[in-house]
Amino acid sequence: MGLLEGKRLLITGVLTPQSLAFHVARMAQAQGAEVVLSTFGRMRSLTERTANRLDRPVEVIELDVNDDEHLAALADGVKSALGGLDGVLHAIAFAPEDALGGKFLSAPRESAELAFRTSAFSYKAVATALLPLLDRTEGRASAGRVADGDPVDAAAPRDVPESAIVGLDFDATVAWPIYDWMGVAKAALESVNRYLARDLGPHGVRANLVSAGPLRTMAAKGIPGFNDLAQLWPAQAPLGWDIEDPQPVANTVCWLLSDLARGVSGEIVRVDGGFHAIGAPSAPPA
Ligand SMILES: NC(=O)c1ccc[n+]([C@@H]2O[C@H](COP(=O)([O-])OP(=O)(O)OC[C@H]3O[C@@H](n4cnc5c(N)ncnc54)[C@H](O)[C@@H]3O)[C@@H](O)[C@H]2O)c1
Repeated sequence: MGLLEGKRLLITGVLTPQSLAFHVARMAQAQGAEVVLSTFGRMRSLTERTANRLDRPVEVIELDVNDDEHLAALADGVKSALGGLDGVLHAIAFAPEDALGGKFLSAPRESAELAFRTSAFSYKAVATALLPLLDRTEGRASAGRVADGDPVDAAAPRDVPESAIVGLDFDATVAWPIYDWMGVAKAALESVNRYLARDLGPHGVRANLVSAGPLRTMAAKGIPGFNDLAQLWPAQAPLGWDIEDPQPVANTVCWLLSDLARGVSGEIVRVDGGFHAIGAPSAPPA
C-alpha cells in the first residue's frame, strides 16, 4: 500500500516538468493519491502540457492566488474534482524583477508588497479558502465521544487522520546574495506557517514547510545570479547537492502530506543536503 493511498490532494504550482510541484504530483500518484492541479491565466497551456506527463490524467482548476473570486470558488472546484480534500501543496512564489538580483535598497514598495502577497499571504489565503474541506473538527470530536452527550475522550482523536497543508520555503533565517525581497517574503512565509499551525491545529489540520536547497526551475531562472548561489551548495552541503534533482524535496513533501507525519505541525524541514548546519565550505569551491 502506498504512503498516500486514498488521499485526495490539491497540488498548486505545476508549470514545467522541472517544477518542484510536478515531482510532488508524480510521486503522490505513485503513492496512491488522487491529485488535482491548479494553474492560472496564460500559464494554463503550459501546466496542461506538463500535466500530460503524469502517469494518470488530472483535472486542472483555475487559481490565481491574488484573485478573490478564484479563492471563493476554490473549495467547490476541488470538491467537484475530488469529492473532498486531505492535503494541499502550496508551491507558489513570485517577486517582480526590480525586487530581486541585488536591488534590495532600490526596490519599490509595490514590488515588495506583490512579493509578500503572492508568496506568503497566499499560503494563508489558500488554507482558509480550503478549510471547509480540510476541517476535521467534527470527525475528531465524534471519534472522541463515548456516547452522545458524554465528554470528549482526549485519547480517541489520535485515530482520526489529520489533513495537511505544505508550503515550499528557502531558508529565511539569514540574508542571501540576490534573493532580496523574495527572502523577506520567505521570512513572512515561515511566520505564516507558525500562525497557521496555531489556528488550524484545533481543526485537525497540520501546516508545515519544506525548506529546499536551490533547484533549477522556471522560478529559479527568474532570479538573476541564481547560478552563482547554486554553485556554492555542493561544496558546503555535507551530503552534496544536485540542483537538477528535486526528488528529495518531493519525498519530504509526500511524507508531510501522509499520515506518517501525524503530530507534526508548525515545522520547517530542511532538504538541502545539510548545507544549513555548516558554517563554511571545507574547501574553496572548485
Ligand atoms: N527552485 C528552487 O531553488 C526553490 C528552492 C526553495 C523553494 N522554492 C519554492 O518552491 C516553490 C515552487 O517554485 P519552483 O521552483 O518549482 O518554480 P516554478 O516556476 O516551477 O513554480 C512557481 C509557481 O508559482 C506559480 N505562481 C506564480 N504566481 C502565481 C499566482 N499569482 N497564482 C498562482 N500561482 C502562481 C507559477 O504559475 C508556478 O507554477 C516556490 O514557492 C519557490 O519559492 C524553490
